[in-house]
Amino acid sequence: MIEAVNLAKHYGPKTAVAGVTFTVKPGQVTGFLGPNGAGKSTTMRMVVGLDRPSAGTVTVNGKHYAEHRDPLHQVGALLDAKAVHTSRSAYNHLLSMAATHNIPASRVNEVIDMTGLAQVAKKKAGGFSLGMGQRLGIAAALLGDPQTLILDEPVNGLDPEGVLWVRNLVKYLAGEGKTVFLSSHLMSEMAQTADHLILIGRGKIIADAPIADILDGGHQTRVRVRTPEASRLAELLGGTGVSIDSSESETLEISGLDARRIAQSALDNRVLVYELTPIMASLEEAYFDLTKDEVEYHSHELSDVASSAPEGR
Ligand SMILES: Nc1ncnc2c1ncn2[C@@H]1O[C@H](COP(=O)(O)OP(=O)(O)OP(=O)(O)O)[C@@H](O)[C@H]1O
Ligand SMILES: [Mg+2]
Repeated sequence: MIEAVNLAKHYGPKTAVAGVTFTVKPGQVTGFLGPNGAGKSTTMRMVVGLDRPSAGTVTVNGKHYAEHRDPLHQVGALLDAKAVHTSRSAYNHLLSMAATHNIPASRVNEVIDMTGLAQVAKKKAGGFSLGMGQRLGIAAALLGDPQTLILDEPVNGLDPEGVLWVRNLVKYLAGEGKTVFLSSHLMSEMAQTADHLILIGRGKIIADAPIADILDGGHQTRVRVRTPEASRLAELLGGTGVSIDSSESETLEISGLDARRIAQSALDNRVLVYELTPIMASLEEAYFDLTKDEVEYHSHELSDVASSAPEGR
């Protein structure tokens, strides 16, 4: 369990985290989302005492991180996979961490096997690829079999097999009753992994809700209907509260009516329908909606980039 109360962090004049209050509960995967620079990593660093809060408090499993006598058993964190001694082997890196908590070497081998590092465990960590580094960071986080797991962009750089493995691992751990707090910019991955989401923008919480509520919020479920008689069906279904997009021939996107009502009207009026698909709002859409005013670092439109490119290219 992670509990933050009015937690804030300022770096000089820059406010990274502007006083956030939230709880990350055990037994579920909580996703932490937000634009670049929103304050996710800073918040996570404060949980494990790597940054001192400017105001407010944060505890993990009921105590400040520094008050835990056995921190590796309380909380495992992957914050910066590059934070390893580059000339030390993966095995020795983990072994030195294990020694601080009397964790046996057998557990080191266990996490090396779990993370798929067995082949490279004796190689210098400095030569690791991005994905291997991430795997080592995850191995370190798992070493003490902690109650709470904090993973900052763990799937960044992982291959598809690794991404799937992380998804299954965190779901399994949450199922075992552990607290899992995970950030990622991959919306489809987050949608498949998280039970609950905390959204942050410019250091403030924008949303803190079960993922199903975030997907529902403000989005009426739409139904895509394909029919050779699109305009006739649109006329039949039109009415108050119903909006119909018929920009493509033979295809309607209808909100305000459910698939059952649409199918019944089509049958009653002998209109042939060959597709009737409820479309859930994607997490990506919900995310863009919620964060549209909170993005600090905007990308340029492709057309802007093209027009500002030097001539002759
Ligand atoms: N050590 C530091 N000194 C000064 N400013 C910092 C420091 N660490 C973070 N910041 C600033 O605080 C803000 C929040 O940064 P943070 O790394 O927490 O964002 P983030 O949400 O993790 O972003 P990203 O998605 O890019 O990882 C940013 O504006 C960043 O520049
Ligand atoms: Mg970050």
